[in-house]
Amino acid sequence: MDHTEPAGAGDTLQDFGPVPAGWVWGTATAAHQIEGGNVGNDWWDWEHTPGSGTRESSGDACDSWHRWFEDLELVKAMGLDAYRFSLEWSRIEPAEGEFSIAALEHYRAILLAAHELGLRASVTLHHFTTPRWMAAQGGWSNPLVVERFQRFADIAAQHLGDQIDMAATLNEPNVVAHAGYIGGQFPPGRPHDWEGFRQASRHLLLGHLAAREALRAGPGDFPVGLTLALPDTVLHADGDLTSPGERVTDLSPDGPRGELGWLTAGQYLDAARDDDYVGVQTYFTEHVGPDGAELPLPSGERVTQMGWPFTPEALGASVRVAAEVARVPVIVTENGVAAAEDAERIEYYSRSLRSLRAAMDDGVDVRGFFAWSLLDNFEWALGFEPTFGLVEVDPVSFARTPKPSAAWLGGLARASRGAHV
Ligand code: BGC
Repeated sequence: MDHTEPAGAGDTLQDFGPVPAGWVWGTATAAHQIEGGNVGNDWWDWEHTPGSGTRESSGDACDSWHRWFEDLELVKAMGLDAYRFSLEWSRIEPAEGEFSIAALEHYRAILLAAHELGLRASVTLHHFTTPRWMAAQGGWSNPLVVERFQRFADIAAQHLGDQIDMAATLNEPNVVAHAGYIGGQFPPGRPHDWEGFRQASRHLLLGHLAAREALRAGPGDFPVGLTLALPDTVLHADGDLTSPGERVTDLSPDGPRGELGWLTAGQYLDAARDDDYVGVQTYFTEHVGPDGAELPLPSGERVTQMGWPFTPEALGASVRVAAEVARVPVIVTENGVAAAEDAERIEYYSRSLRSLRAAMDDGVDVRGFFAWSLLDNFEWALGFEPTFGLVEVDPVSFARTPKPSAAWLGGLARASRGAHV
């Protein structure tokens, strides 16, 4: 594979090298995964639907609805410059057309406190969860969602825009559509529903464009984009995973992944040409056969707690593809690993960041890196077992304990900040 630089556990990255002015080192979270008590959205219902396959309820999650200031202090203490979090639409609009000023004020307090601590704030409007009242009307498969999402974006922009430093309309719309209508692991849990998948993919794209317009029209002046789940995809035309294969860079409907490649990546990267940046979220390399289906991993392959291949260098490869197609600056809005052993996390980030550095040295315009995640949190269908956090969270006391990887990443950020190009 190109740009692969295997590193042993002892090969910890100590110096990322110079970063461009304006670069951000941050860490990311999402409302439903950390706040707790998000009882008004489709995920809460899904967690409580027998047979949904979701292991457990998000429950109190990390209780960040109350402990958000402690979370900000952790980011600050670590030595990072930015915090990415999401607004919970169902808290801001608990019933159709009924907006909660108190919920908006809650998020405004987070933004103000972040700034007082000297952190930049990156806000995501939709991170996987949709209010129950919208889900009841068909969620993202109903064209009405576009106007409803735009109205929510407009209210959020009017109330919070002057304090936002960077915004994403949607987090991984490609996962929302695919896991909801093809895989079935996410609500509405309709596996193999291609028609639903096509509709949701269309409305997510239109929702992005509509929300982008609302954010740009409101107060404040900040970059607006979306984030995409972008695995590094290698195609093996012979169906043999051990053959060298070819990296998929053509995501058009005529490309090797056809309609699936277009609807899950190409259409969004294309739209991102008019965005201010594209958010890349990469966790692994996937290998696909001639029919586009994923090839099973050979037994004995090193995997993460998610069962994903341990392939950190996927990041460098996918930022190259994203930059080439979208032709706008890239921000790595998520990257990380679910690992019980924290040393594995440091190894993972050392290797993913080396591959990112190599891409930047080759001229790819990257503006920042957000580690996923600040906290061990609710990992959707898999519950609390996979641990992505730089900080451990006690499930009973909610006490937060930074792991060695937190100090290491902060040290890397501090060192590179002094070395702007
Ligand atoms: C999502 C996160 C999730 C992470 C790990 C991304 O798909 O944005 O919410 O926890 O990956 O699965």
